[in-house]
Amino acid sequence: MTKRATFTTKLGVIAATAGSSVGLGNIWRFPYETGQNGGAAFLLLYFICVLVLGLPVMVAEFTIGRSARANASRAFLKLTPKTHWYVVGVLGIFAAVFIMGFYSVIAGWTLDYVYQSLTFGLADKSPEQFQTAFTQFTADAVRPIFWTFLFLSINYVILVKGVQNGIEKASNILMPVLFILLVIFGVRSLFMPGAAEGLSFMFKPDFSKVDSGIILKAMGQAFFSLSLGMGTLITYASYFSDRTSLVKTAGTVATLDTLVAIMAGIVIFPAVFSFGISPSQGPQLIFITLPNVFQQMPGAYFWSLLFFVLVSVAALTSTISLCEVAISYLHEEFGMSRRRATLILVLVCFFMSTLCSLSFGPLRQVTIGSLTIFDFCDFLSSNILLPLGGLLIAIYVGWVLDKKFVRNQISDGGRINVWYFDLLMISLRFIAPVAISLIFLSGLGLF
Ligand code: PFF
Repeated sequence: MTKRATFTTKLGVIAATAGSSVGLGNIWRFPYETGQNGGAAFLLLYFICVLVLGLPVMVAEFTIGRSARANASRAFLKLTPKTHWYVVGVLGIFAAVFIMGFYSVIAGWTLDYVYQSLTFGLADKSPEQFQTAFTQFTADAVRPIFWTFLFLSINYVILVKGVQNGIEKASNILMPVLFILLVIFGVRSLFMPGAAEGLSFMFKPDFSKVDSGIILKAMGQAFFSLSLGMGTLITYASYFSDRTSLVKTAGTVATLDTLVAIMAGIVIFPAVFSFGISPSQGPQLIFITLPNVFQQMPGAYFWSLLFFVLVSVAALTSTISLCEVAISYLHEEFGMSRRRATLILVLVCFFMSTLCSLSFGPLRQVTIGSLTIFDFCDFLSSNILLPLGGLLIAIYVGWVLDKKFVRNQISDGGRINVWYFDLLMISLRFIAPVAISLIFLSGLGLF
């Protein structure tokens, strides 16, 4: 058997894992969720979910992945043979395909906006024209699908090169680029006239808006943003070396991810308030509101180009991690070559995202519950599959795996002082399962 790949450097581990976490979830979803759910109160709930639920579940995923060194499903079988826990990994693979379905559509839109920025397509439009152009574009049966196809092809090119030469190399280049772009933007935004208003919207909580639906959304957002609950981090941790510290890595990744979300808010809200626009625009926030704002700023060409490149880069490092969950599974379980596994997966994702894209146009009438195909994929994966996966993973590491084994993994065989171990176990055994179940049931109106 060929030796299993590992990430080669510490930077590679952080860049790839943070690359998975930092994505459209931070730059597209987080600002509009915050905008729609009351600003700072949502942010606070989100922080609590990251700290109390997200971080422990991330360490749990790392523990499973690094100790088993296998794909997300096989990992469970290796650690607990003859049980059915591997189903958690299989669920994750389905979640990956659903997420890829809607995620690649948005990523395709951002590529189109890069192109439009480059070719002056966004210049000199009125707010109404931005709105109409966006609605026409997303309802089109060809153009968005073309960009989604291009986006998935870029994923293919990176993924086919494998873990070290593909994922790690790409992340090492793309993540620093992303940070630099974000810092340039953040500084620019703080000098805008609406900066104070934007920041107060983000940081001054209004608790009257909080209800169980919002808590469910904050939790869903935390799981989505940290890439938890579907085996992505199990898969990436299976490429960690023995010397990678699991807790340190989880802390760094969660901090970077939260930082980027806050920075995205700092970039977007001051700009939005500077031009007197409502922050509760929903998913269209970065596609209609922001380009409109950019046009009114000096250097519009430069800023909108920079912004959409930034979003595309963030999306790319996340989708390669989503795809890798399924590719490693196909490759290891069905003995497919990496090339074939990648090709099959990208084609399946293209099929899903075509349906999602068409649900803004010709397939608008097709609904599941009351949701369009696009919204259904988003809802099912972020609000159901990820928290459910997170719940099962917490129970698995908290109750099923041997406590000594887990401690040994987390402390790197006793090399690290893990004074927080009991806290971690309390969260995995009690807090996370109870909180996730309650929030889950009440958010769905069942409790
Ligand atoms: N964390 C990514 C984001 O915030 O955009 C999305 C994501 C990637 C979710 C990988 C789940 C996942 F497994």
